[in-house]
Amino acid sequence: MVVEVYNYKMTSKTKRRLVMKIIVVKNEVEGGQEGFKIFENAKKNGAHVFGLATGSTPITTYNDIIASDLDFSDSISINLDEYIGLSADNDQSYNYFMHEHLFNKKPFKKSYLPNGLAKDIEAEAKRYDKVIEDNPIDLQILGLGRNGHIGFNEPGTPRNIGTHRVSLTQSTIDANARFFANEDDVPKEALSMGLASIMKSKHILLEAYGAEKADAVKGMIEGPDTPDLPASILQQHANVTVILDEAAASKLTNK
Ligand code: GLP
Repeated sequence: MVVEVYNYKMTSKTKRRLVMKIIVVKNEVEGGQEGFKIFENAKKNGAHVFGLATGSTPITTYNDIIASDLDFSDSISINLDEYIGLSADNDQSYNYFMHEHLFNKKPFKKSYLPNGLAKDIEAEAKRYDKVIEDNPIDLQILGLGRNGHIGFNEPGTPRNIGTHRVSLTQSTIDANARFFANEDDVPKEALSMGLASIMKSKHILLEAYGAEKADAVKGMIEGPDTPDLPASILQQHANVTVILDEAAASKLTNK
């Protein structure tokens, strides 16, 4: 059940009037259904390149995609990020995650992820930027870090850089430790698509669930647009849909 849908109106730095569509649902299963509808609609309207994310948040949307008859065998996927040092067959790598949660059941014509084992990380970052440039993203799905990161663009990340090497913050390492046997196993570095590339996507869908995301959600939508909260850059994008459960939406005041 959708609890509430509203358009959050904002003025971009260039004084354009922008609207962020906010959909509040009861829980992430319902959020997944709403997310699925956006994928379905994008596909119907000819979307061909899908920017994909890992983390627990998009799983319900991926489950609904898997259960549907949507066919991505003519489509391209480009993932946001990958840990440095993990091979594709390591069950904690994002490459493995994507196969487990989507690709094994819904294969794409071609799926791109950064190579976390690349010997030359700078060259790998350049290769990935070229992939994104050659395949403009029609729909990008995002989760949200507790500190407001998107992809692995941590607070303070400059907004104009492309794919880059990231030192993960302690907050992100702590949050992601739940997926590993112990915290020491969590990689400390990653390769992430840059904010500028994310912002070039034609449509951005961000999902966030749970009370631990409420501060980041508030900052993203109602706070100042600042590199300290990377997701606040979305205030400058003309086509953003945000799906929240009630807990994640609980600190929004400015409807
Ligand atoms: C990681 C990923 C992000 C994801 C975030 C939130 O840091 N790099 O893309 O959005 O975690 O994860 P979760 O959805 O599990 O809360």
